[in-house]
Amino acid sequence: MLHKLTAKVKGASYSFVRNKLPKYCHRSRLLSSIYYGVFDKSFAREHQAVLAGRIKHVEEASQEKGNYFLMVRNTHRLEKGLLMRPRRAVFAKEYIGETMDNFESIWNHKEISGNPQMKWFYDVLSSYFESAGTDPDIEKYQERFKKKVNGFDTAMARADTPVKAVPYHRLQEQSSHITFEEFYKLTRQRRSVRWFDARPVPRELIDKAVLAANQSPSACNRQPYEFRIFDDPALVQEVTKYPMGTSGYGHNIPVMIVLVGNLDAYFDERDRHVIYIDASLAAMSFMLALETMGLSSCSINWPDVEEKEVKMEKFLKLKTQQRALMCMAVGYSDPEGMVAFSEKRPLDQIRQYN
Ligand SMILES: Cc1cc2nc3c(=O)[nH]c(=O)nc-3n(C[C@H](O)[C@H](O)[C@H](O)COP(=O)(O)O)c2cc1C
Repeated sequence: MLHKLTAKVKGASYSFVRNKLPKYCHRSRLLSSIYYGVFDKSFAREHQAVLAGRIKHVEEASQEKGNYFLMVRNTHRLEKGLLMRPRRAVFAKEYIGETMDNFESIWNHKEISGNPQMKWFYDVLSSYFESAGTDPDIEKYQERFKKKVNGFDTAMARADTPVKAVPYHRLQEQSSHITFEEFYKLTRQRRSVRWFDARPVPRELIDKAVLAANQSPSACNRQPYEFRIFDDPALVQEVTKYPMGTSGYGHNIPVMIVLVGNLDAYFDERDRHVIYIDASLAAMSFMLALETMGLSSCSINWPDVEEKEVKMEKFLKLKTQQRALMCMAVGYSDPEGMVAFSEKRPLDQIRQYN
């Protein structure tokens, strides 16, 4: 009796919080914040992740090991300064100090020869200092740079690419020969495939698709994501259970991928959505690249449901600032299995000029 009464009260209060209260709270930002701060914890994990990311970002920037994301962002900013028309005689004065601090720290800790981004940092900074003009503030950093990289040119002579990693003019003859028609065909060929045959997927092909994904645009080139790839059958079965959208076909997925976003790429909340955008752009290139190699895929939603988040967090050993973003099933499609037609919205429904 008491049990039934408790359930009834719980049901009524859930319905009040879920349906009635939002009707008042949505009218103001403060009330909305109170609603999500007190009555509904849907955003609690995201709030904590954003905050943890920002703090890690800021702390790392002033620590001995340096902040790699900051270094990438600032190198990108320097490149934009170098390619600006007309180029300003003096630029980047406000962030060259923090760039050099982080460059020196990263230089001390990362393997120089194996990481092409180290060469990019080096080349862009070299170009910047060559063209920065005479400014006493900048000259002081130029001296620090020279001292730090003393002897690096010899190391780079052994590197894969002798090309300077700085702004350049694109050459027509180096363009791809893919026509729009062929590209469009590829986009239509890609359909979400849910039935796979038992052939194992060579890691080499997945890596190639990740390489293509790696060329996707990302805000300030930070690439705040990771592909966590599972091809061990036991682990695939385990991770396939976590999202909601794999029921009925999860058992035949040969490879399961979880895209993870790193919120420590940002120093400010304003960029908190960028993990989703950047990872989605990469995911699209990844899936198209798979198609060119005869492989198929299906995107799988990652719902922000606390109980599921806890399982995924444990499985992937995620840090507080890391978020699972989406999953992807990958494999060779089973020709006996069908795909949904998935007709798309007509052009005039999805585009509008001016
Ligand atoms: C973010 C996202 C989440 C998705 N989640 C699921 C899912 O959980 N389960 C599933 O079977 N398909 C899922 N899909 C696949 C969509 O159903 C599919 O992309 C859509 O119906 C269009 O079909 P197409 O991919 O063949 O063009 C998802 C796709 C995206 C982009």
